[in-house]
Amino acid sequence: MKFFIDTANLDQITEAQALGVLDGVTTNPSLMAKEGVTGEKNIIKHYKDICNIVEGDVSAEVISVDFKGMVREGKELAALHPQIVVKIPMIEDGIKALKYFSDSGVKTNCTLVFSSGQALIAAKAGATYVSPFIGRLDDNSTDGLDLIGDIRLLYDNYAFETQILAASIRHTMHIVNCAKIGADVMTGPLSAIKGLLNHPLTDIGLAKFLADHKKGN
Ligand code: E4P
Repeated sequence: MKFFIDTANLDQITEAQALGVLDGVTTNPSLMAKEGVTGEKNIIKHYKDICNIVEGDVSAEVISVDFKGMVREGKELAALHPQIVVKIPMIEDGIKALKYFSDSGVKTNCTLVFSSGQALIAAKAGATYVSPFIGRLDDNSTDGLDLIGDIRLLYDNYAFETQILAASIRHTMHIVNCAKIGADVMTGPLSAIKGLLNHPLTDIGLAKFLADHKKGN
């Protein structure tokens, strides 16, 4: 399973990179705005800064919702750095743009996916990644993990190469359960990633080892 961190915060990306288990980054317009990154020059610099911290794919989302605009923006984003993946929303013009970029050899991430049907047509259009938002489904009394399982079945039935990028991760168990189901990638907050480290019995056991060692010396 690839680990992506879901933030535009450079400090958190740096901290996650230092763990040695990071494979990429996902951003979205809200995450960029949260970091106060506004204006074309600042946005471009910020994406390049992220690409200089990590080695893997970095998703950068278009703002346009029309085909021509998404293609124009996507080309500009892709030209910024070889690690940039063009993030495109699951709308009709987005499907056309996914197909355009697939035919052009540009990596894409189809975002705001909430159903198997959306994931199926995104794969047909040749998306590199599809991002089912499991946390937001959970927030609406629908088990987001069920969607990951359904998409895994669909993609395996037809050997689609599109990678399932489990998004809208809320906590550590989302990561574990997405791995059990077979998501190719998860993108989550640093807290969820670092939560994988934690178990009280580990802390208790280590403390005893060290105490016993100290007693023995
Ligand atoms: C991927 O980058 C998505 O935009 C992100 O995971 C959404 O997460 P949220 O539902 O917490 O906003």
